[in-house]
Amino acid sequence: MREFSADYLRRTREGLWEDRDALADLELGSRERVLDVGCGTGELTRVLAAETSGEVVGVDADTALLAVANDHREPGDRTSFVAGDANRLPFPDDHFDLVVCQALLVNLPDPARAVQEFARVSRDLVAAVEPDNAAVSVESTVDAERDLARRAREAFVAGVDTDVALGGGGTRAAFRDVGLHDVRTREHYHAKTVEPPYDERDVEAAKRKASGAALADRRETLVGPLDAEEYDRLRTAWREMGRDVVEQMADGDYRRSEVVPFYVTVGRVDGPPTSSAG
Ligand SMILES: C[S@@+](CC[C@H](N)C(=O)[O-])C[C@H]1O[C@@H](n2cnc3c(N)ncnc32)[C@H](O)[C@@H]1O
Repeated sequence: MREFSADYLRRTREGLWEDRDALADLELGSRERVLDVGCGTGELTRVLAAETSGEVVGVDADTALLAVANDHREPGDRTSFVAGDANRLPFPDDHFDLVVCQALLVNLPDPARAVQEFARVSRDLVAAVEPDNAAVSVESTVDAERDLARRAREAFVAGVDTDVALGGGGTRAAFRDVGLHDVRTREHYHAKTVEPPYDERDVEAAKRKASGAALADRRETLVGPLDAEEYDRLRTAWREMGRDVVEQMADGDYRRSEVVPFYVTVGRVDGPPTSSAG
């Protein structure tokens, strides 16, 4: 199982749900009992709890992330967190009226198996918020950054052993495979911008580019699609780009924007069949 740090999840979810229109099909206003599978530190769980008056449970296989999620709880909170496997959820049939996940299916070798399990414990809706990591776009005032980010992304997508570009299409296929009805998908774009005034995390991220640490963290995945020489060349170019980022930041000239496409797919456990074109 791929591991995620609490810090990574906090950084990459910042601003993700400032606009919640894409969650409309989850009908959160009328939910009584919601399950967030692969909840991690509870980034989505807290959004769900803010939008519903019902109970919201988060489940994850990583107990260190669950401890962070628990630390966020406040007295009278309607959230709770339990340890469990997405493929064998520790709940009886039909226990929830919405079962949802965010960025979980892209990390599973058999996404349809987990969706089947979601459908077992839901009596009404199943939903998944999944990114297409192959379609992330980067713009930067440092000329080389866009191209290097694309090369690293392509190698990463080719090197991981799950479908990290699952997005809407792969998720819809999994929903249909397990017989969910009335399947619909909304697009949701997460835009992240770095611009002056820079905060501590922006400066730290620039330093990690310049030292090559940011790329080295993904070395295991990148070497495979890239041979060792290609990886070294990429790392050298990456560090050079990082030094330019640090320099532009010192002058207050650096700007970067990144857009990650997410797809919110919702299906019903019972209902009319989904048309093949839908
Ligand atoms: C990319 S993180 C997403 C966390 C959270 N949903 C969010 O978007 O911030 C993927 C999460 O899925 C969890 N996970 C991976 N495989 C799992 C499994 N088989 N059962 C339960 N959780 C799993 C990981 O521990 C991690 O917390």
